[in-house]
Amino acid sequence: MNTRWIGHPIYRMDEVDSTNEEAKRYLSQGVESGALFVAERQTAGKGRRGRSWDGRPGESLLMSAVLRLSLTPEQASGLTLVTGLAVCRAVESLPACPKAAGPRIKWPNDVILGSRKICGILVELLLERERNGIVIGIGVNVNNSGFPQELREKATSLKREWGRTVDREDLMERIWQEFEAACDCYLLTRDMRGLREEYEQRLINMGCPVRTESAGGGLEGIAEGIDDRGRLRIRKADGELVCIDAGEVSVRGIYGYV
Ligand code: BTN
Repeated sequence: MNTRWIGHPIYRMDEVDSTNEEAKRYLSQGVESGALFVAERQTAGKGRRGRSWDGRPGESLLMSAVLRLSLTPEQASGLTLVTGLAVCRAVESLPACPKAAGPRIKWPNDVILGSRKICGILVELLLERERNGIVIGIGVNVNNSGFPQELREKATSLKREWGRTVDREDLMERIWQEFEAACDCYLLTRDMRGLREEYEQRLINMGCPVRTESAGGGLEGIAEGIDDRGRLRIRKADGELVCIDAGEVSVRGIYGYV
C-alpha cells in the first residue's frame, strides 16, 4: 500500500471476531504503530454504543489500524472525526463518485451517501504508560448488494448508490492516505482547529434541527457546527449554546435518521 506509515505491515484474515479486538490483542503484545488488520468476515463485528456491525465477505471493507501516539484520551477521541473526514475525502476522490452528490458526515463520524450510512467508525483507546494505544476501526459498505430488513432504511453501499462495483483495495489505500494527511493536520494542534472548516462543510447536520439521546434526557436545538475539540454545538430554542461530546451522547435529526 502506498502510504507512509499506516499499513506497514498489513495482517490479512479470512475470518476474525472483530478486527478491533484483533488489533487490541496485537497492541498489548507490542505491535508497531501503523499495523493494519483487514478481514473478509467478522463473527462479532462491533459498532459504537455496544451495537454490532454487519459486514459481507467479498463486499464490505473491514479493517482496523493501530496507532501509538502521545495523545490524551480526549485528544485521541477527536480522531473519530478525523477518520470520518478522511473516509469522506477518499470516497469523493473515487472516479465513480458523482460530483454533485458526494459523501457527507453525520456527527461525529458516520459517512452518509444520500440519506443512508455507508461507513461506521469505532475508535478505541488502550491506556499505556508512555504512548497510548489507539485502534481506528472502519467498516465500509462497498459492494454490498442487500441489507437485512432492519437496516434497509438506514444503510446503503457505494455499489447500490452508484450502480457499479468499487475496487476495495483502491478505496482502502485512498482512505489511509487521506487519514495520514488529515492526522498530520490534527497533530499540529491536537484538536480540530485546522480541519474544522472542511468538517463543517461536509457536516450533514449543519443548520439542521437535532435531538440528543442520552440517559439524562434529550435536548433539542439547531446544530451550528463543531468546536475545536470536535464537540457538536447545539443552539437551543431559548438561545443557549450547548456543546456535546461524542463519547457521551448520540444525535439524531428530528425528521429521521440524519
Ligand atoms: C458504528 O457505526 O457503530 C461503528 C462501526 C464500526 C465497524 C468497524 S468494522 C471494522 C472494525 N471492527 C469492528 O468490530 N468494528 C469496526
